[in-house]
Parts: sequence; C-alpha cells; structure tokens
Amino acid sequence: MPNPENVQIAPAEGKLGVLIPGMGAVTTTFIAGLEAIKRGMGKPIGSLTQLGTIRLGKRTEGRSPAIRDFVPLANIEDLAVGCWDIFEDNAYEAAVKAGVLEMPLLEQLKEPLSAITPMKGVFDQDYVKRIHGPNVKTGGSKMDYAEMVMDDIRQFRQKTGATRLTMIWCGSTEVFHQAAAVHATLKDFECGLQKNDPEISPSQIYAYAALKSGVSYANGAPHLTTDMPALLELARNMNLPLSGKDYKSGQTFMKTLIAPGLKSRMLGLNGWFSTNILGNRDGEVLDDPGSFRSKEVTKSSALEYILQGELYPDLYKDFYHKVRIEYYPPRGDAKEGWDNIDIFGWLGYPMQIKINFLCRDSILAAPLVLDIVLFMDLAQRAGMRGVQEWLSFYFKGPMHAPEVYPEHDVFIQLMKLKNTLRWMRGEDLITHLGLEYYD
Ligand SMILES: NC(=O)c1ccc[n+]([C@@H]2O[C@H](COP(=O)([O-])OP(=O)(O)OC[C@H]3O[C@@H](n4cnc5c(N)ncnc54)[C@H](O)[C@@H]3O)[C@@H](O)[C@H]2O)c1
Repeated sequence: MPNPENVQIAPAEGKLGVLIPGMGAVTTTFIAGLEAIKRGMGKPIGSLTQLGTIRLGKRTEGRSPAIRDFVPLANIEDLAVGCWDIFEDNAYEAAVKAGVLEMPLLEQLKEPLSAITPMKGVFDQDYVKRIHGPNVKTGGSKMDYAEMVMDDIRQFRQKTGATRLTMIWCGSTEVFHQAAAVHATLKDFECGLQKNDPEISPSQIYAYAALKSGVSYANGAPHLTTDMPALLELARNMNLPLSGKDYKSGQTFMKTLIAPGLKSRMLGLNGWFSTNILGNRDGEVLDDPGSFRSKEVTKSSALEYILQGELYPDLYKDFYHKVRIEYYPPRGDAKEGWDNIDIFGWLGYPMQIKINFLCRDSILAAPLVLDIVLFMDLAQRAGMRGVQEWLSFYFKGPMHAPEVYPEHDVFIQLMKLKNTLRWMRGEDLITHLGLEYYD
C-alpha cells in the first residue's frame, strides 16, 4: 500500500466502461436510472458518491465537501454500459419484464435503453438451474469462453472509446461451491480452464477474462468467484482491485443497522428469524437449494461477526438465527421481509422487535452498483490492488484478508470507507475522539 503522501490518483479523463454480466432487474434499474438522472427526470437517491459529504479536519473548521468533489470520480455522463445475458431482450425489453420501474418512465427512456443489447453469455446449467436462455456462447473449452469474453471486452472498448473499464456481476446467483484444488494457483486455474474443470463457474470465467484484460472486478452476488487464491493472484499480478460479495441492500442492511445498536447497549439476543417473499427472476433462481445455499451463507454470517459471541457469552453465545427466502411470483420485485428478533435485557427479561420491510430490491441495489463502479475505478486509478476492504460497506459477505474477520457493522464500514478517502487525499483520519474541544 503506498504511503499517504505518495498516493497519486490519475484523473478520471474520458469514458468509464461498465461491463455487467447479467442484464436483469438490478442492471436495467441501474441503466434506466443513469439515463433518467442524465435527463433530470430523477435523483440518485441512495448513492453515497452522488449525495454524500465527507467531514475534513476538526468540527470547528466547517469543511464538509461533497465526496464527488473531494476525490476524482467519473461523472454519470461519462459512463458507457455493456452487458451480457443469456436472454436476447434489449435493456428496454428486459426492464419491462423486470417490472421494477413504471411504464411511463420506461417509455420516455425507450430509445437509449433499446440501444443496449446483451452480448452472448457464458452459461452453465450446473451453476444456475432454474433458467434457460438462448443467447449463450457455444463450442470450445472454458479457456475458449474466456478468450471470447476478452474479445467482447476488446470490441466494447473500441466501440465506446472507453479509457478505463470495470466489471461488476449482476447475473444470477450460482450454486454454492467452495474453493477446490483448481483454484489453488493461477497455473492450476489456467490448466483447469483448458481442461474444462467442472469446479470453474461461468462467473469465474468472466472474472478471469476481466482481470486478464486489465479490468477490475466486483461481485454483486453471494457465490465464490474471486474468493480464492488463483484469481487473487491474478489481480495482484495485474495491479487490479477486487471487491465483493453480494450487495447489502435490504434485510441484511437492516440487520447490520440494528445488531450493532443492540450490542452497543449490551442487550442480549435469543433468536433472530428472517423471512422474505420475493417474486422476481432472482427469487426464482434462489428457489433452487444450491443457489439459496450461497445466499444463506452470506446472509447468515453478519450477525455472528457483529455480535462476537465468544467475547460476550452472556449475551450472544447460542442465539438461534434462521433465514428464509420464499419465491412468491405475485410480489415481483417488491420484496417483503419480516424479522422477528427475540432480545433480552436487565435480569434476562425477554422483549421482541418486529421489522416488516416492504422494500424494492432493485431500487435499493441500483445506487450500490453506481457507487461500487465509481469507487472501483477510483481505486484502480489510485494504484490500489487486491481486496478492497474499504468497500465492505456495500456487501453482505465482505471480502477480507485471511488473518482478519470481515467487518459487518455498517457504521464501522462507513467510517472505514470515508477514512480511506481521507487517506487517499492526505487528510487527517477522523477518530471521533473529541477531547481537543474541551479543557
Ligand atoms: N436486488 C438486490 O437487492 C440484490 C441484493 C444482493 C444481491 N443481488 C444479486 O444480484 C444479482 C442480480 O439480481 P437481479 O434481481 O437483477 O436478478 P435477475 O434474475 O433479474 O437478473 C439476473 C440476470 O442474469 C442473467 N444471467 C444468469 N447467468 C448469467 C450468465 N452466466 N451470464 C450472463 N447473464 C446471466 C439472467 O438471465 C438474468 O437476466 C443476483 O445474483 C442477486 O442475488 C441482488
């Protein structure tokens, strides 16, 4: 990591290409949002890069610039989006099917959205069971597929004239897999690509192609992808940032708001039951036990890490945590989540908290996609490589170094993110000590 005085951030000149495997609900809500914002038809609500400020120096100094004025970020006007999907629908048709945004808005954006047609996807039914689409690459080994994606990237770069590129996964959740022998080193992985090793998933083929092409990679879904030595090695070799995994948008976001609060007051937890009904394509894919298992793992781990049962055995040693997702088509993207939280206080007296979050999954996720791509581009221009822990703020299962536990507390995550920006610009880090204001 460079010394603060030496952090040179290359300017955000020219276009930033945003490459997205998967053009479903989240992606089309993101793209339509960009087009609506560019035309003054909506505001980027939910985006820290667009609306957030950052306090610098002492509270008496009154310095709180907008984040986007403090660090050099790409402008929304300078983003060029390219996607892959296994269905042939253009972004307008896919947005209509996703049913997130209302038709009058989509009609006004029909022209720019219709112009985005998906490239053929790299797909393997063993990794996503519930959907079947015609727009897929065929023939050859997994290495050939990686070459084809690299070719897509080259063509996209040429067509758009993008000076920089970043890739972010918004495709379906793949079934749960753990790192295997083929993921041990880059050499093993490349050999596995040639030999069609069944442990290499489509998302890993995209990520490999991105990194080989000098493109950073972020994982918006809970499956493995870059959480393994081979692709970490490639990112390091290529000086590229990585981040992931699984957008922290709805129920887990709520969980990581509430759990630190309970812990701050030393209130105990007996159990936390979370359930969701969800009727979009994501819900359909997650109805498959393998894909649900990937989600269950990222959704379940946050509480244990935040509450630290080993440090607080009287409060959090054996709490019962259960997470369910039920596919319920009538609800579409308008997910509903229920949380029942059994807590206890003074002398062990029990209490309950109920949360009923009527959210919109893709409305919550789209601004996270925007922030992640802008910050990944910033990280790359600042010469930051490998796992970007400061972007944990955006993820349910933050990537982290093997020797530390992941930080899930959303308030610590935000402090970490803002301190990283201060660090990049050579500003004092903020400790919130505050003694300097008093005698
Ligand atoms: N919406 C949220 O709040 C949220 C939060 C966390 C994570 N996620 C994850 O983000 C991803 C996208 O969510 P969504 O609601 O847009 O889902 P979606 O089902 O609407 O879209 C996913 C798209 O990916 C395509 N796809 C699947 N495999 C592909 C492949 N190999 N190559 C190219 N395209 C492929 C599908 O055809 C589909 O169009 C999911 O994995 C979801 O679990 C979403």
